[in-house]
Amino acid sequence: MKKLLMISMLLFSTISLAKTTTITFTDQMPTEGNLVLGVYEGGEFGPIGQKLDQNGDISHAIKAAAFTAKIDSTQLIVAPKDSDLDQILLVGLGQKPNQEGTKNSALDWQNIGGHAIQKAVDTFKTPAIFAFDTDNTDALANLAYGTKLGSYYFDKYYTSNKRIKTQAEITLYAAQATAAQKSFDNNWNPVANAIYHTRNMSNEPANIIYPQSFVDVWTDHLKGMKNVKIKTFDEKDMQKKGMGAIYGVGKGSARQPRMMVVEYMGGKKGDAPVVIVGKGITFDTGGISLKNPSNMWNMKFDMSGAASAVGTLYALAGQNAEINIVAIAALAENMPDANAQRPGDVVTSMSGKTIQIRSTDAEGRLVLADGVYYGDVTYDPALLIDLATLTGSVGRALGKDYSGLFTRHDDLVDGFVAAGKASGDEVWHLPLNDNHFKAIENEVADVMNSGPDAPGASAGAAFIGTFVREETKWVHFDIAGVAWGGKNQAHNGSPGSTGYGIRLLNEYILKHYSK
Ligand code: BES
Ligand code: MN
Ligand code: ZN
Repeated sequence: MKKLLMISMLLFSTISLAKTTTITFTDQMPTEGNLVLGVYEGGEFGPIGQKLDQNGDISHAIKAAAFTAKIDSTQLIVAPKDSDLDQILLVGLGQKPNQEGTKNSALDWQNIGGHAIQKAVDTFKTPAIFAFDTDNTDALANLAYGTKLGSYYFDKYYTSNKRIKTQAEITLYAAQATAAQKSFDNNWNPVANAIYHTRNMSNEPANIIYPQSFVDVWTDHLKGMKNVKIKTFDEKDMQKKGMGAIYGVGKGSARQPRMMVVEYMGGKKGDAPVVIVGKGITFDTGGISLKNPSNMWNMKFDMSGAASAVGTLYALAGQNAEINIVAIAALAENMPDANAQRPGDVVTSMSGKTIQIRSTDAEGRLVLADGVYYGDVTYDPALLIDLATLTGSVGRALGKDYSGLFTRHDDLVDGFVAAGKASGDEVWHLPLNDNHFKAIENEVADVMNSGPDAPGASAGAAFIGTFVREETKWVHFDIAGVAWGGKNQAHNGSPGSTGYGIRLLNEYILKHYSK
């Protein structure tokens, strides 16, 4: 037994995820190498730019190249001869802040940082130093955050150094380096680290991340964090608790289902928590209702909701937020097998409600049925959120720009739309009405998981809502379109996982629940 334990511990430790970019502020003027220099519209820049421009070389270059300095614009120039620098990448900062402060929003600063690092990595083969030349601490912290997010790349499996696409250590110049570093480390770095880890988890293939290894890797990562407790239900616990819906999905796989429950109780004792439940299908073949092969490999991302749920908690815990949060990862692998469930099977969920399986490929709503019910009745939450790569149809409707938001509590919509705009993880409100609930009524069982009148994203939302008490404030996000595969994103330098949901929920939860 002991030997087995040792061997399995050795196995866990072989899952080492990709590394995190570090951000260091310095008040030392850069003297060699390549420089990334922020410039405002009209050609203004801060102390570093002024120092380098003593002979007017930079101003001349800006004029000669008709560089506008609008946000997203860049221009590569040769450094002045009498500096010891090589090249300078000019980066547009938009309009200069006036007396009232900065004109750019937090997200503008973040995107400037993200584009700048991506352009710098493309342009220079060696690391560059960044001098955005603003002395606004908030702006600097946001620039650093954006630079870190934009620098993310999933290159863990490349064996050739030539293919490396990131700058592992980023140095930012700021006259007030200590203050900028502190602001970044306290407010944004925990969110950036959570997004890195969540993207890493989602990008890993399904032979590496399966229900138990998801639990192990997150447990390892959360180790030592204040106010954090973890419990995990295995397939036997599920049977005991009557969680027949998640158990049924996991039945066809050699990798058993798990439900991971993480509590971060940073708030007052007894304050109702925000509960976030995530769909954690570590691979979705469709089961007996098998998917087409062509894009099936993408279904390694079908656990993105669960990763972002725990990632959101990890960010808030890292920020020492005075809030109670519970993250629930509903984990299973959906495989076709002699033991797999079939279309027509009836399962009983933890709520007692019976479900006829119509399509084994509508498995996300099944694992969530037990996940949201458990979260609702165990914690009596102030707000219940679920994140799920639930339907292809939401991706076709909203593309890569928005997740779909569904709720019975329409008063929650505006707050989430605003949080989406502020954070960059945008949302679009989609309908949920009585017809969607009628469409999943079934003649054999209480409800069915799919059906002729229930193909869309709204019916999926209604199915999940069936397992949440009506009075509970509940919001469902269908993230099937946005969880991976965004192109040219300032906040993500990598193809693959976006870590969608962490920026959105960090913004929303801090705004509405922290004291
Ligand atoms: N994981 C898929 C949804 C999905 C598809 C996400 C493509 C991202 C890209 C989900 O489990 C699924 O198969 N949904 C079905 C539901 C249907 C059977 C009711 C779908 O959308 O086709
Ligand atoms: Mn499916
Ligand atoms: Zn799925």
